[in-house]
Amino acid sequence: MKNFSVKMELVDGVPLPDSTWEMWHQFWNFQAREDDILIATFPKAGTTWMQEIVDLIMLQGDVEKSMRAPCFVKVPFLDLNVKPLPSGVEAANVMPSPRLLKTHMPIKLLPPSFWEKDVKVVYVARNAKDCMVSYYYFQRMNKGLPDPGTWDEYFSTFLAGDVAWGSWFDHVIGWWNARDKHRILYMFYEDMVEDPEREIRKVIKFLGKDVSEEVLQTILHHTSFEVMKNNPMANYSVLPSVVMDQSISKFMRKGKVGDWKNHFSVSQNIAFDKEYKEKMEGSGLTFREEL
Ligand code: PPS
Repeated sequence: MKNFSVKMELVDGVPLPDSTWEMWHQFWNFQAREDDILIATFPKAGTTWMQEIVDLIMLQGDVEKSMRAPCFVKVPFLDLNVKPLPSGVEAANVMPSPRLLKTHMPIKLLPPSFWEKDVKVVYVARNAKDCMVSYYYFQRMNKGLPDPGTWDEYFSTFLAGDVAWGSWFDHVIGWWNARDKHRILYMFYEDMVEDPEREIRKVIKFLGKDVSEEVLQTILHHTSFEVMKNNPMANYSVLPSVVMDQSISKFMRKGKVGDWKNHFSVSQNIAFDKEYKEKMEGSGLTFREEL
């Protein structure tokens, strides 16, 4: 089933689902708390994975408690506004502290209270090519986003930054430039795949937590792709198919680095690399999987 009914609205040049735009005032005035932890990502960069990691760190590896609710209930997605459900902001407002929160906003659209309260942010970046592939499949199955069209059409749409939450380039560079000015831990999906234990240790240190070796191993196991893929609290399977039709594509699709090689044509890869070079030049930000 194709869904052409979802519209985008521009906020400061960034395309957002119109439902997000409709609650813009509420979103922008969101009141962060000092002990919030925010997970910020461009879509499909490893948000859910990081949510599970941070939640389990906060719970000292208590897997039973981590399964108390689906990931999107445990961690309000602030940008989301799907009526008749409470918006992400409304859900967060009634949550006890410490709260774990999620956003896909580029840094310029983050509510100012996050900076006023000096909130800790874990940012996860994933290479653009794999993000594009993952987002393409996600837009095919997630009825809250526009139908992506063909892969060739989507390639151009993504590269032009005409997808929800805008340009991948602006997103990763914007957050990168702010990492030393605020309490931001800048993580890479590719590093997490390469050595999840090393990367989880970084998160534990950033959060100032003390975690035993045994607990660390529990977290490592419970946040592996295979376990999360089969965890109904993490894999979005509790949502009805009118919201996410996982017969089209699974939320936990492949969990790999480099799947873009199965999708990019030679000419797309050349066009992408040219644009990538221009946009990333001088940013000091490098991804091992791009070129
Ligand atoms: S969303 O909708 O923006 O919140 O999606 P997000 O969670 O950021 O990204 C989904 C992709 O992350 C992969 N994923 C994982 N990879 C490795 N290990 C673990 N544990 C893991 N959990 C989720 C998921 O499979 C999506 O990537 P693709 O490439 O589509 O498989």
